[in-house]
Amino acid sequence: MIGADMSNHKPCIGVFDSGVGGLTVLKALLEVIPGADYLYFGDTARLPYGSKSAETVTKYAVGACEYLHSHGTDLLVIACNTATALALPKIERVVGVGVVGVIEPGAQSASGASQNRKVVVIGTDATISSHAYLRALKSRGVEAREKACPLLVPLVEEGWIAHPVTEQVARIYLDEAFAGEFESADVLVLGCTHYPLLKPILRRVAPAQVKIVDSAESTARAVAQQIRLDPKLSGAESVNEERGRGSSHIRFFATDSVQKFRSLGERFLGRKIEDVQHVDLKE
Ligand code: DGL
Repeated sequence: MIGADMSNHKPCIGVFDSGVGGLTVLKALLEVIPGADYLYFGDTARLPYGSKSAETVTKYAVGACEYLHSHGTDLLVIACNTATALALPKIERVVGVGVVGVIEPGAQSASGASQNRKVVVIGTDATISSHAYLRALKSRGVEAREKACPLLVPLVEEGWIAHPVTEQVARIYLDEAFAGEFESADVLVLGCTHYPLLKPILRRVAPAQVKIVDSAESTARAVAQQIRLDPKLSGAESVNEERGRGSSHIRFFATDSVQKFRSLGERFLGRKIEDVQHVDLKE
């Protein structure tokens, strides 16, 4: 896609996720880079990734990212925390464009927000057991406690984002996470695509001193920064400006039912979803 004449080139950003959750990242991207074009791939037939092995997640994620790349993306965003945690190096090796995952930007924002250098990270089982956030935070001089919250993804997918059961489950997880030496932790990192929808509940159940860091928003800012700094994407300058708002063309690919993707996805994206194509990826 990056041709000789880049002056009018509108960058095409590929966004990959295990399903519809990554639409929270696309939503954040549309806020900060409103004029780019987007391709979104949701591997809905094979989700959840969060309970699978590193080997399986890597195989699925690499195949999907190759597919996205073959459709002409200039930059690839791995919206899925689990795929970022387990497969980012492999994806970077196989696709020939820049790749941005959600963990480094999330850790960077958490580090900037934490006064006492103690943070809590919540995510899927696979993300938490990879310790990818722990390492990213440690390298910035921040101590982390990681807490897997596997029940939150199905509750969000059920649409129970303001349900008392979800609040009770979140309270149990966070009470455990902010216990003992992490009682004084001052940042909560949302290390899963689905958790931004639970911000109101998480705000209520987290200790009062805690700032919430949303990896989706941090990633969108990191992508905007990368576009600004990359001379090959110089045509993207205007995409960060207000006048670009609303001019994005967005195409969606889903490996399971197109109708299901549309109806669930609209809840995550907060706008109508059109132009969804079904994709059958070969194993
Ligand atoms: N997208 C996944 C993540 O951010 C959550 C859903 C799944 O387990 O596939 O970790």
